[in-house]
Amino acid sequence: MAYLNQGRMSPILGSSFLCVFLVQCLFTRCSFGAEVFSISPPYGSLCGETKMLISGTGFSQNKLSEGNQVQLVSLATSYDCPVSKDGTMESMIMCYTVPGMKEGVYHVRVKVDGVPIPDENMCQPEGPYSDKCLFEVRKQNTPLIQSVSPTSFSPGPESVIALGGMIFTDRYGTNVAASSNGKEETVNQVYAGPLTCELRKTNDELYELQLDSPSSNMGQIKCRYQGTYIGNSNASFIIGDGPYGRSCRQQDTLLVSINKQIYQFQTFPEITGVTPSSGSTDGGTDLTIAGNYFTGTMENTEVYIGGKSSLM
Ligand SMILES: *[C@@H]1O[C@H](CO)[C@@H](O)[C@H](O)[C@H]1NC(C)=O
Repeated sequence: MAYLNQGRMSPILGSSFLCVFLVQCLFTRCSFGAEVFSISPPYGSLCGETKMLISGTGFSQNKLSEGNQVQLVSLATSYDCPVSKDGTMESMIMCYTVPGMKEGVYHVRVKVDGVPIPDENMCQPEGPYSDKCLFEVRKQNTPLIQSVSPTSFSPGPESVIALGGMIFTDRYGTNVAASSNGKEETVNQVYAGPLTCELRKTNDELYELQLDSPSSNMGQIKCRYQGTYIGNSNASFIIGDGPYGRSCRQQDTLLVSINKQIYQFQTFPEITGVTPSSGSTDGGTDLTIAGNYFTGTMENTEVYIGGKSSLM
Protein backbone atom coordinates (compact mmCIF):
# COMPACT_ATOMS: atom_id res chain seq x y z
CA MET A 1 0.00 0.00 0.00
CA ALA A 2 2.65 2.41 1.03
CA TYR A 3 4.54 2.40 -2.26
CA LEU A 4 1.35 3.22 -4.23
CA ASN A 5 1.38 6.59 -2.64
CA GLN A 6 4.93 7.40 -3.61
CA GLY A 7 5.25 10.40 -5.93
CA ARG A 8 1.86 11.69 -4.93
CA MET A 9 1.46 14.12 -2.11
CA SER A 10 -0.90 13.22 0.68
CA PRO A 11 -3.85 15.67 0.77
CA ILE A 12 -2.95 16.83 4.25
CA LEU A 13 0.68 17.50 3.34
CA GLY A 14 -0.42 19.30 0.12
CA SER A 15 -2.76 21.71 1.79
CA SER A 16 -0.25 22.59 4.45
CA PHE A 17 2.26 23.47 1.66
CA LEU A 18 -0.34 25.71 0.07
CA CYS A 19 -1.00 27.26 3.45
CA VAL A 20 2.67 28.06 4.04
CA PHE A 21 2.89 29.50 0.52
CA LEU A 22 -0.12 31.78 1.04
CA VAL A 23 1.10 32.94 4.42
CA GLN A 24 4.49 33.66 2.88
CA CYS A 25 2.79 35.72 0.17
CA LEU A 26 0.84 37.64 2.77
CA PHE A 27 3.89 38.65 4.75
CA THR A 28 6.74 38.94 2.23
CA ARG A 29 4.86 39.28 -1.07
CA CYS A 30 5.67 36.56 -3.51
CA SER A 31 6.24 37.39 -7.19
CA PHE A 32 2.67 36.32 -7.92
CA GLY A 33 1.57 39.52 -6.26
CA ALA A 34 3.96 41.77 -8.19
CA GLU A 35 2.16 44.61 -9.89
CA VAL A 36 3.10 47.65 -11.97
CA PHE A 37 1.10 50.84 -11.29
CA SER A 38 2.70 53.19 -13.83
CA ILE A 39 5.93 54.18 -15.55
CA SER A 40 7.62 57.50 -16.10
CA PRO A 41 8.76 59.42 -18.10
CA PRO A 42 6.49 58.78 -21.11
CA TYR A 43 9.18 59.82 -23.63
CA GLY A 44 12.88 59.23 -24.15
CA SER A 45 15.97 59.65 -26.31
CA LEU A 46 16.95 57.74 -29.44
CA CYS A 47 20.47 57.59 -28.03
CA GLY A 48 19.44 55.95 -24.76
CA GLU A 49 20.26 56.70 -21.13
CA THR A 50 16.71 57.79 -20.33
CA LYS A 51 16.14 56.97 -16.68
CA MET A 52 12.89 55.03 -16.40
CA LEU A 53 11.07 54.63 -13.10
CA ILE A 54 8.53 51.84 -12.77
CA SER A 55 6.35 52.14 -9.72
CA GLY A 56 4.48 49.18 -8.34
CA THR A 57 4.68 46.57 -5.65
CA GLY A 58 6.20 43.15 -5.04
CA PHE A 59 9.41 43.70 -6.99
CA SER A 60 12.33 41.41 -6.24
CA GLN A 61 14.55 42.37 -3.37
CA ASN A 62 16.84 39.36 -3.57
CA LYS A 63 19.09 40.62 -6.31
CA LEU A 64 17.80 44.02 -7.26
CA SER A 65 19.33 44.22 -10.75
CA GLU A 66 19.05 40.57 -11.80
CA GLY A 67 15.84 39.69 -9.95
CA ASN A 68 13.98 42.46 -11.76
CA GLN A 69 14.10 42.51 -15.56
CA VAL A 70 12.56 45.11 -17.82
CA GLN A 71 11.87 44.90 -21.53
CA LEU A 72 10.48 47.57 -23.80
CA VAL A 73 8.40 45.94 -26.50
CA SER A 74 7.00 47.40 -29.72
CA LEU A 75 5.11 45.69 -32.52
CA ALA A 76 8.36 45.25 -34.44
CA THR A 77 11.06 44.71 -31.86
CA SER A 78 12.08 44.77 -28.22
CA TYR A 79 14.97 46.02 -26.10
CA ASP A 80 16.19 45.34 -22.59
CA CYS A 81 16.18 48.22 -20.15
CA PRO A 82 19.07 47.31 -17.81
CA VAL A 83 18.03 47.70 -14.17
CA SER A 84 20.06 49.90 -11.89
CA LYS A 85 20.60 48.64 -8.35
CA ASP A 86 20.47 52.02 -6.71
CA GLY A 87 16.97 53.31 -7.18
CA THR A 88 15.37 49.86 -7.21
CA MET A 89 13.38 48.57 -4.24
CA GLU A 90 10.22 46.59 -3.46
CA SER A 91 8.00 49.39 -4.81
CA MET A 92 10.20 50.84 -7.56
CA ILE A 93 12.39 49.67 -10.42
CA MET A 94 14.88 52.01 -12.04
CA CYS A 95 16.35 51.20 -15.44
CA TYR A 96 18.25 53.06 -18.18
CA THR A 97 17.23 52.73 -21.83
CA VAL A 98 19.86 51.53 -24.29
CA PRO A 99 21.13 53.56 -27.26
CA GLY A 100 19.92 52.79 -30.77
CA MET A 101 16.25 52.07 -30.02
CA LYS A 102 14.04 52.60 -33.06
CA GLU A 103 11.68 55.56 -32.96
CA GLY A 104 8.27 54.36 -31.80
CA VAL A 105 5.94 53.39 -28.98
CA TYR A 106 6.86 50.63 -26.55
CA HIS A 107 5.01 48.92 -23.75
CA VAL A 108 6.73 47.69 -20.65
CA ARG A 109 7.26 44.07 -19.65
CA VAL A 110 8.61 43.23 -16.23
CA LYS A 111 9.86 39.90 -14.89
CA VAL A 112 10.26 39.41 -11.16
CA ASP A 113 12.55 36.52 -10.20
CA GLY A 114 12.02 35.06 -13.66
CA VAL A 115 8.21 35.30 -13.58
CA PRO A 116 6.58 37.77 -16.02
CA ILE A 117 4.04 40.08 -14.41
CA PRO A 118 0.74 39.18 -16.11
CA ASP A 119 -1.29 41.76 -18.07
CA GLU A 120 -3.96 41.87 -15.39
CA ASN A 121 -1.33 43.24 -13.01
CA MET A 122 -0.06 45.91 -15.42
CA CYS A 123 -1.19 49.53 -15.09
CA GLN A 124 -4.72 48.68 -13.99
CA PRO A 125 -7.49 49.58 -14.43
CA GLU A 126 -6.51 50.93 -17.89
CA GLY A 127 -4.20 48.02 -18.68
CA PRO A 128 -0.75 47.39 -20.17
CA TYR A 129 -1.41 49.26 -23.43
CA SER A 130 -2.61 52.47 -21.77
CA ASP A 131 -0.62 55.70 -21.40
CA LYS A 132 0.32 54.65 -17.88
CA CYS A 133 2.42 51.82 -19.26
CA LEU A 134 3.61 53.22 -22.62
CA PHE A 135 6.97 54.76 -23.50
CA GLU A 136 7.76 56.57 -26.73
CA VAL A 137 11.24 57.02 -28.16
CA ARG A 138 11.25 60.06 -30.40
CA LYS A 139 13.31 62.81 -31.97
CA GLN A 140 11.60 65.60 -30.03
CA ASN A 141 13.03 64.11 -26.84
CA THR A 142 16.50 63.41 -28.15
CA PRO A 143 19.32 65.80 -27.21
CA LEU A 144 21.45 66.43 -30.29
CA ILE A 145 24.96 67.71 -30.97
CA GLN A 146 24.80 69.87 -34.10
CA SER A 147 28.15 71.57 -33.85
CA VAL A 148 31.54 70.92 -32.26
CA SER A 149 34.26 73.53 -32.02
CA PRO A 150 37.18 73.35 -32.32
CA THR A 151 37.46 70.03 -34.16
CA SER A 152 41.20 69.84 -33.59
CA PHE A 153 43.29 70.96 -30.62
CA SER A 154 45.95 69.82 -28.21
CA PRO A 155 45.02 68.91 -24.64
CA GLY A 156 45.88 71.36 -21.93
CA PRO A 157 44.41 73.38 -19.11
CA GLU A 158 42.97 75.85 -21.61
CA SER A 159 41.39 73.39 -24.03
CA VAL A 160 37.73 74.29 -23.95
CA ILE A 161 35.33 72.70 -26.37
CA ALA A 162 31.93 74.09 -27.43
CA LEU A 163 28.99 71.82 -28.23
CA GLY A 164 25.93 73.36 -29.89
CA GLY A 165 22.50 71.87 -30.54
CA MET A 166 19.38 70.60 -28.77
CA ILE A 167 20.38 70.85 -25.12
CA PHE A 168 16.87 71.44 -23.66
CA THR A 169 18.10 73.08 -20.46
CA ASP A 170 20.62 75.56 -19.11
CA ARG A 171 20.52 74.06 -15.65
CA TYR A 172 23.56 72.27 -14.23
CA GLY A 173 23.66 71.02 -10.65
CA THR A 174 22.09 73.75 -8.61
CA ASN A 175 23.29 76.77 -10.61
CA VAL A 176 19.65 77.88 -11.07
CA ALA A 177 16.32 76.65 -9.66
CA ALA A 178 14.91 76.08 -13.14
CA SER A 179 16.13 76.37 -16.69
CA SER A 180 15.42 79.71 -18.40
CA ASN A 181 12.92 77.90 -20.63
CA GLY A 182 11.07 76.70 -17.52
CA LYS A 183 12.27 73.11 -17.59
CA GLU A 184 13.49 71.39 -14.45
CA GLU A 185 15.81 68.90 -16.10
CA THR A 186 19.53 69.34 -15.68
CA VAL A 187 22.64 68.63 -17.68
CA ASN A 188 23.95 65.61 -15.75
CA GLN A 189 27.26 65.01 -17.44
CA VAL A 190 29.23 65.90 -20.56
CA TYR A 191 31.71 63.50 -22.13
CA ALA A 192 34.53 64.44 -24.50
CA GLY A 193 36.63 61.51 -25.57
CA PRO A 194 37.25 58.93 -22.88
CA LEU A 195 36.66 61.30 -19.96
CA THR A 196 34.06 63.67 -18.63
CA CYS A 197 34.30 67.26 -19.82
CA GLU A 198 34.42 69.79 -16.98
CA LEU A 199 31.69 72.47 -17.12
CA ARG A 200 33.09 74.58 -14.30
CA LYS A 201 36.19 76.72 -14.22
CA THR A 202 38.50 76.39 -11.23
CA ASN A 203 36.65 79.34 -9.63
CA ASP A 204 33.40 77.29 -9.90
CA GLU A 205 31.82 79.51 -12.57
CA LEU A 206 30.39 77.79 -15.63
CA TYR A 207 32.30 78.23 -18.89
CA GLU A 208 29.02 78.61 -20.75
CA LEU A 209 25.66 76.87 -20.62
CA GLN A 210 23.14 78.86 -22.53
CA LEU A 211 19.89 78.51 -24.43
CA ASP A 212 19.47 80.58 -27.60
CA SER A 213 16.30 82.19 -26.18
CA PRO A 214 13.95 81.63 -23.21
CA SER A 215 11.57 79.67 -25.43
CA SER A 216 14.25 77.59 -27.11
CA ASN A 217 15.54 74.06 -26.62
CA MET A 218 18.65 74.94 -28.62
CA GLY A 219 21.80 76.23 -27.03
CA GLN A 220 25.47 75.82 -26.31
CA ILE A 221 27.59 73.99 -23.73
CA LYS A 222 31.26 74.79 -23.16
CA CYS A 223 33.51 72.55 -21.13
CA ARG A 224 37.18 71.80 -20.49
CA TYR A 225 38.72 68.73 -22.12
CA GLN A 226 40.35 66.66 -19.40
CA GLY A 227 43.25 64.27 -19.55
CA THR A 228 45.96 63.86 -22.16
CA TYR A 229 44.40 61.46 -24.66
CA ILE A 230 45.65 61.93 -28.22
CA GLY A 231 43.52 60.71 -31.07
CA ASN A 232 40.01 60.73 -32.53
CA SER A 233 37.13 61.31 -30.16
CA ASN A 234 33.40 61.88 -29.90
CA ALA A 235 31.41 64.02 -27.51
CA SER A 236 28.05 63.44 -25.83
CA PHE A 237 26.03 64.75 -22.92
CA ILE A 238 23.21 63.48 -20.75
CA ILE A 239 20.08 65.44 -19.83
CA GLY A 240 18.91 63.57 -16.77
CA ASP A 241 15.82 63.02 -14.63
CA GLY A 242 13.17 63.53 -17.25
CA PRO A 243 11.98 62.61 -20.74
CA TYR A 244 15.40 63.06 -22.41
CA GLY A 245 18.64 61.13 -22.05
CA ARG A 246 21.92 60.89 -23.95
CA SER A 247 22.63 63.11 -26.94
CA CYS A 248 22.90 61.83 -30.50
CA ARG A 249 25.30 63.26 -33.09
CA GLN A 250 24.08 65.06 -36.17
CA GLN A 251 25.59 63.43 -39.25
CA ASP A 252 27.42 66.54 -40.43
CA THR A 253 29.40 66.78 -37.18
CA LEU A 254 31.05 63.45 -37.97
CA LEU A 255 34.43 63.62 -39.70
CA VAL A 256 36.54 60.84 -41.19
CA SER A 257 40.23 60.52 -40.31
CA ILE A 258 43.02 59.38 -42.64
CA ASN A 259 42.74 55.88 -41.17
CA LYS A 260 38.97 55.90 -41.86
CA GLN A 261 37.92 56.37 -38.25
CA ILE A 262 34.76 58.42 -37.66
CA TYR A 263 35.10 61.16 -35.07
CA GLN A 264 33.91 64.61 -33.99
CA PHE A 265 37.20 66.09 -32.86
CA GLN A 266 40.90 65.24 -32.82
CA THR A 267 43.50 65.92 -30.19
CA PHE A 268 47.15 66.19 -31.17
CA PRO A 269 50.45 66.70 -29.35
CA GLU A 270 51.83 70.21 -29.28
CA ILE A 271 55.29 71.10 -30.55
CA THR A 272 57.01 73.78 -28.53
CA GLY A 273 60.35 73.90 -30.32
CA VAL A 274 62.75 72.28 -32.81
CA THR A 275 66.54 72.40 -32.38
CA PRO A 276 68.82 73.00 -34.15
CA SER A 277 66.89 75.31 -36.45
CA SER A 278 69.25 74.75 -39.38
CA GLY A 279 71.23 71.78 -40.75
CA SER A 280 73.10 70.47 -43.78
CA THR A 281 71.24 69.91 -47.07
CA ASP A 282 72.94 66.48 -47.12
CA GLY A 283 70.89 65.43 -44.12
CA GLY A 284 72.22 63.55 -41.12
CA THR A 285 71.45 66.31 -38.65
CA ASP A 286 69.96 65.12 -35.36
CA LEU A 287 66.81 67.08 -34.53
CA THR A 288 65.26 67.44 -31.13
CA ILE A 289 61.52 68.12 -31.18
CA ALA A 290 60.19 69.33 -27.87
CA GLY A 291 56.55 69.40 -26.89
CA ASN A 292 53.75 67.89 -24.88
CA TYR A 293 51.41 64.90 -25.17
CA PHE A 294 53.61 62.74 -27.39
CA THR A 295 52.53 59.13 -27.11
CA GLY A 296 55.72 57.77 -25.51
CA THR A 297 56.07 54.95 -28.04
CA MET A 298 58.10 54.97 -31.27
CA GLU A 299 55.75 52.71 -33.18
CA ASN A 300 53.06 55.19 -34.04
CA THR A 301 55.31 58.19 -34.31
CA GLU A 302 56.63 59.54 -37.59
CA VAL A 303 58.44 62.77 -38.25
CA TYR A 304 57.96 64.71 -41.47
CA ILE A 305 60.20 67.58 -42.46
CA GLY A 306 58.90 69.66 -45.35
CA GLY A 307 56.69 66.73 -46.27
CA LYS A 308 59.58 64.21 -46.39
CA SER A 309 59.69 61.36 -43.92
CA SER A 310 62.81 61.14 -41.77
CA LEU A 311 64.48 58.43 -39.71
CA MET A 312 64.13 58.39 -35.96
C1 LIG B 1 31.93 58.38 -33.01
O1 LIG B 1 30.55 58.16 -33.19
C2 LIG B 1 30.20 57.54 -34.43
C3 LIG B 1 28.70 57.41 -34.52
O2 LIG B 1 28.02 58.44 -33.88
C4 LIG B 1 30.86 56.17 -34.51
O3 LIG B 1 30.58 55.58 -35.75
C5 LIG B 1 32.36 56.32 -34.33
O4 LIG B 1 32.97 55.04 -34.30
C6 LIG B 1 32.69 57.06 -33.05
N1 LIG B 1 34.12 57.33 -33.02
C7 LIG B 1 34.88 57.18 -31.92
C8 LIG B 1 36.31 57.56 -32.05
O5 LIG B 1 34.43 56.77 -30.87
